[in-house]
Amino acid sequence: MHNVHAICDDTYWIGASDRRLALFENTYHIPQGMAYNSYVILDEKTCLLDGVDDVVASQFSENLDYMLGDRTLDYMVINHMEPDHCAEIPWLVKKFPNIKLVGTAKTFDFIRQFHNFDPEPYALKVTEGDTLELGKHILQFVTAPMVHWPEVMVTFDLATGTLFSADAFGEFGALGGNLFADEVNWERDWLDQSRSYYANIVGKYGMQVNNLLKKAAALPINRICPLHGHIWRKDLDVIRSKYAQWASFEPEEKSVVIYYGTIYGGTGQAADILAGLLAQQGVRDVRVYNTATADLATMVSEAFRASHLVFASSTQNMEIFDAMRTLVLDLRAHAMQKRHVALIENGSWAPQSGKLMREQFEAMKNITIMEPSICIRSRLDDETLQQITVLAEAIVTSLGEE
Ligand code: FEO
Repeated sequence: MHNVHAICDDTYWIGASDRRLALFENTYHIPQGMAYNSYVILDEKTCLLDGVDDVVASQFSENLDYMLGDRTLDYMVINHMEPDHCAEIPWLVKKFPNIKLVGTAKTFDFIRQFHNFDPEPYALKVTEGDTLELGKHILQFVTAPMVHWPEVMVTFDLATGTLFSADAFGEFGALGGNLFADEVNWERDWLDQSRSYYANIVGKYGMQVNNLLKKAAALPINRICPLHGHIWRKDLDVIRSKYAQWASFEPEEKSVVIYYGTIYGGTGQAADILAGLLAQQGVRDVRVYNTATADLATMVSEAFRASHLVFASSTQNMEIFDAMRTLVLDLRAHAMQKRHVALIENGSWAPQSGKLMREQFEAMKNITIMEPSICIRSRLDDETLQQITVLAEAIVTSLGEE
């Protein structure tokens, strides 16, 4: 049975949500599921804009069949050739042998690699500014390399002012029937999903996202249709301003996140005492994460939100402790920048984690490492407790200065 939704003139959502898959891209926990958006424009020519992941291929095919009726599919615009949007390409070219696949040159390399057939007979290669006339609807293509893969483009429908934005402006989370961001309490319920999707999926590519935002600013956009999450048709500046901050690595909030990796509790206690001291000095909404149990994607996303980040880690095998090491390396892999960072290490006989974490943060751009850096031997003592107090005061002062 079909489950489709009208978006605007001749334009329909034919995607689907999944609430069974535990891991998106086999790495990101998605307890709230995932939405895979796909769109179709029915004009003199019919045009599919991106497909879906194979986990929802069955619903997608029912939706597409319903929308086409007895018409054929003339075009599939492939804004992004990642398998979560392209699982159905081999099926589509068999079903519609005259279909034209529309993408950048790199798109067709990826089709060959992922689907093991020659796409050339179906290929309509486009580049920056090219247009495709469907009848009343004229599609203009805007390249967006590395948002999130090198082949990516976005498509602008000149007739309706709709930007089909690929991964840009996407969210984690299955949709609850309300497709539009103005139909939900987006800031309360979805901003975190949007930030987490941005940070984890495209966070490293801030410069490329900024390039896309500049190009998009020149287009008369009425609505934004991403490949995951809600569609924007009102208050577009809400999401555009968030993207401008995230892409520039500007903290969204003056606030503190404390991450700790603890073996027997000494480092965790220091983190909690620091959090309490900050709270007692008026710092609101301090958040503390145990890296061993907290979700990595959430912790990375939190680093994109907050201005001041504290990393407190035990030493294990002369290394940063376990999941904390993963977190710090992940932040470096995401090219994290423009943060105040405080470091607390612990080691009962050979503390090393502070030095190792410092090396990682010194390799990132525009990171201010705060003083004092603290070295705990097993548990806090009078001296290190005093240093924690001094660090809390330094953070409070710094928050006031920003
Ligand atoms: Fe939703 Fe980069 O794929």
